[in-house]
Amino acid sequence: MLSGGRSGEHRVSRRSAASVLENLDPARYRPEPVLITRTGQWVFGTGMPVSVFEAVDRLRTVDVIFPTLHGPYGEDGTLQSVLELTGVPYVGNGVLASAAGMDKEFTKKLLAAEGIPVADAVVSRPTDPDGVPPEAELRRLGLPVFVKPARAGSSLGVTRVTDWAELPAALEWARSSDPKVLVEAAVPGREIDLAVLEHPDGRLDVGPPLEIRVTGDRSFFDYDAKYDDPGTVFEIPARLADAVTAELSDLAVRAFRALGCAGLARIDFFLRDGLAPVLNEVNTFPGFTPVSQYPRIWQVAGLDYPELLDVLVENALA
Ligand code: DAL
Ligand code: MG
Repeated sequence: MLSGGRSGEHRVSRRSAASVLENLDPARYRPEPVLITRTGQWVFGTGMPVSVFEAVDRLRTVDVIFPTLHGPYGEDGTLQSVLELTGVPYVGNGVLASAAGMDKEFTKKLLAAEGIPVADAVVSRPTDPDGVPPEAELRRLGLPVFVKPARAGSSLGVTRVTDWAELPAALEWARSSDPKVLVEAAVPGREIDLAVLEHPDGRLDVGPPLEIRVTGDRSFFDYDAKYDDPGTVFEIPARLADAVTAELSDLAVRAFRALGCAGLARIDFFLRDGLAPVLNEVNTFPGFTPVSQYPRIWQVAGLDYPELLDVLVENALA
């Protein structure tokens, strides 16, 4: 059981992992907790911190690895490549899907190539003159825009910009998480998440759609709304026409396959009245905290948390 990690989602990962540990059936598993510190050292149980190089040898002795990590160095393919080197099966997505899902620039490119609608965006790179993308491209997006680190999660570093004068500060804030930043056209609409789960026989299940409703004066589902605001409401299943649910499920499966996902993914959409859904992002290791969407969706589908973990582990071993 790996948790923690070097990303800004260290704390979220530890909450996810604590929840996974609580829900693993003690009759079936003997979990060994391993904490990856914020500086990238590995702590096995109550032992002394060791480097990743030593950790690889220690990991070779287990039957399966459950990498409950989010964000860079956990969910972006770097950790998965270390796990590949151990030769031990691990839960969830492999190197390529993790990398492709973490980097929102490339997620969009791969999905667009499959004809899956994504929000228009401009990439801001450290090499841009003055650090600001060309004005003509920004004008194309219109306002409001979301300014986001290209490779981060849990809405860390994200700002909703309603006036271009706010852009430089928003870019700087996003750059504190990642030198590559996305300026993305806001899609006004309902926010609907779909959970995809792979079974050991390769069958993909899509859970009932979840709608997120943030309360008060929040303009989007930010970090606090995700983890600390009891007012945030998830409606499962979301109130949608059957045809819309079918369309979203189909897009979720197509996105899962387009990125070469394995095991699980939570795929988030915006839904506008009478228009095609827009895929917002693919989470290759979605949150597993007690308040997170993925386990809650499956619970409503009749697969409780311990059973969900069984499917994930069995799929890794298949
Ligand atoms: N990045 C967080 C953990 C999520 O997608 O749930
Ligand atoms: Mg995400």
